Amino acid sequence: ELQPKVVIVIFGATGDLAKRKLFPSIYRLYQSGKISKNFAVVGLARRPWTDEVLRENVTKSINEAISPEEDLEEFTSHFYYQPFDVTDESSYNGLHMLINDLEGTYQTEGNRVFYLAMAPDFFGTIANKLKEYGLKESAGWSRLVIEKPFGRDLESAKVLNKELRAAFDEQQIYRIDHYLGKEMVQNIEVIRFANGIFEHLWNNRFISNIQITSSETLGVEERARYYDHSGAARDMVQNHILQMVALLAMEPPISLTTEEIRSEKIKVLRALRNMDPEQVGDFFVRGQYDSGDMKGEAVQGYRDEAEELATSNTETFVAGKLLIDNYRFAGVPIYIRTGKRMAEKSTKIVIEFKDIPMNLYFKKDNDRHPNLLIINIQPNEGITLCLNAKKSGNGALSEPIQLAYNHNAVSGINTPEAYEKLLYDCMVGDATNFTHWDEVALSWEFVDTILDVWSKNTADFPNYKSGSMGPDAADELLAKDGFHWWSI
Ligand code: BG6
Repeated sequence: ELQPKVVIVIFGATGDLAKRKLFPSIYRLYQSGKISKNFAVVGLARRPWTDEVLRENVTKSINEAISPEEDLEEFTSHFYYQPFDVTDESSYNGLHMLINDLEGTYQTEGNRVFYLAMAPDFFGTIANKLKEYGLKESAGWSRLVIEKPFGRDLESAKVLNKELRAAFDEQQIYRIDHYLGKEMVQNIEVIRFANGIFEHLWNNRFISNIQITSSETLGVEERARYYDHSGAARDMVQNHILQMVALLAMEPPISLTTEEIRSEKIKVLRALRNMDPEQVGDFFVRGQYDSGDMKGEAVQGYRDEAEELATSNTETFVAGKLLIDNYRFAGVPIYIRTGKRMAEKSTKIVIEFKDIPMNLYFKKDNDRHPNLLIINIQPNEGITLCLNAKKSGNGALSEPIQLAYNHNAVSGINTPEAYEKLLYDCMVGDATNFTHWDEVALSWEFVDTILDVWSKNTADFPNYKSGSMGPDAADELLAKDGFHWWSI
């Protein structure tokens, strides 16, 4: 296995993402030997921290995330901090000198990752200044990792992309979608294409509908400023959910290269039907959480979470019906839903197969149990196949049974976290599980239509209780087509 040598520069090192995800991920890569001792991390942010303060914070974040047994001193000694002003030339010059120093000390062969884990306003500026002041010139490679949000609509995403591309080539840009690092999201492709028994049925002749649910129990937390400008469609649908749709509907790639896989995903997004604005009301439902009860604890509604949210029209829930106009999937609805403050934290995909032409083995019509393939993404990882088998005793009636595979139990608790895998992929130059610009653009095009219609009128919010599965209209969306959300 490759053991990259690298200096990782984190813009936004005092922020939440660095603390919750990046520091623990780097530690796990170090601990498992995936990065060599030839690495250093430079933390940048506005605050006047020192190396010592950064190291204490790194230690704290790792202890909270994984409570390791060993002493972290050797590990954290690779971390350095520099106060940074993204618009100021001397900040970049200082960074340049520090990187040069560290490349000498740690023999990292000039390989550099610039990780932008901060408010998106300065993504373009930073990328261009890195180029202007020569920070991306080195004896090794330079890569830019961009966190979401990648713009707030197609127009702004284009502007941002243009700015980034003025400084970095497409092959150097790694747009993170952390769902693509999740074990079971990566498994969609393998389950589909490594099994003869699914792929032959994976089309509109045998699948009646697909349901993707990504529900969260948390509310807006401390992110009111970001979230209220975003909302669930931008925060979850444009990226994570549409990426899962692409993986579920794509054709088998001719090989497992980055280009082949990405181009199959892009084809799906191109076939995703863009609604007429008049249809948005029939195909999409928005919601915002009200106060309610989360497992016995009373919680407040979205509009009461912060003063500036008092009259907010931002959606914290989205449900929708997607159609893919291609030969394989024409006519198969893909229902999606995602939201905050829902009954449980869970991401799962249900593939519902069509009824067989004649079934003698049940008494009443509602005893009918279609075959389901359920891909559990989180918190449980695994797959469940729902079949019908004979009820024991006399007669020949069927009853539903489940075959379940629990991935966590098989691979142990040490399955790498999404960020850990993606960071490693970036360091070895594998962009397969990062989003290509074309995917970003097509996803925005789809979501823009919906947001545009929604922005033109005020919603009747709040419309779902905290602790529920969203507004009633999300159930009606399926009921209109004769389906219901499966909760298995
Ligand atoms: C992020 C969103 O991209 O994904 C958050 O900005 C959301 O609002 C999070 O909570 C969900 O990720 P996960 O991995 O917890 O499902």
